Amino acid sequence: MAITITSALIIFFHFLVSHFDISYGRMCSQHIFTSNRLYNSCRDLPHLSASLHWTYNSSTGVAQIAYRARQGPRGWVAWAINPNQIGMVGSEALVAFHNGIGSMTVYTTLIASYSPSMVPGNLSFQVSGLSAESTINEITIFADVGPFEGGSLVNQVWQSGNLVLNGVPQMHAISQQNLQSTGEIDFLYN
Ligand SMILES: *[C@@H]1O[C@H](CO)[C@@H](O)[C@H](O)[C@H]1NC(C)=O
Ligand SMILES: *[C@@H]1O[C@H](CO)[C@@H](O)[C@H](O)[C@H]1NC(C)=O
Repeated sequence: MAITITSALIIFFHFLVSHFDISYGRMCSQHIFTSNRLYNSCRDLPHLSASLHWTYNSSTGVAQIAYRARQGPRGWVAWAINPNQIGMVGSEALVAFHNGIGSMTVYTTLIASYSPSMVPGNLSFQVSGLSAESTINEITIFADVGPFEGGSLVNQVWQSGNLVLNGVPQMHAISQQNLQSTGEIDFLYN
């Protein structure tokens, strides 16, 4: 009996967590960007209350992207491509956070290990037009990325952490959401 109740509770909480994770006020196609930015495609990502918007130019292989994620004023957000494999290690990230003097810091960094330095570094693919914006509960990163070696199909990784210390994003939580925030995306398809 006890086991049955426990399993029922686990299933129930699992449902709650996954349900609210996906449904938290998200519908990327309804989002209106400031400064007349428009994107052809978007996807609500399944974890961390995040969305990716993009317009892909198949002749240049460049994707104009906007990555939006729920985050308060003390935390950081990151969106990355992993050219080598699925997962965090080896990924190449765009990271953004409030810098404490009223604007956003945004830069690129290589995630070489499970305990990356988070120091700025150049990526293996081109990044231009990098900028970030915030609202009270969301941070958005804008950039033009690519072309990529594999074309329009890439492994993406996204992440959020609650703390930035002395300009360095600190370790993210290791909840299921934080560990599952990775997957393939093909910029040619919605
Ligand atoms: C793709 O990029 C090329 C080169 O910059 C440009 O001429 C073309 O108009 C772009 N295509 C689209 C659909 O924007
Ligand atoms: C990144 O590339 C630029 C331009 O090639 C160079 O000036 C800069 O030093 C590089 N930064 C790092 C951290 O390697």
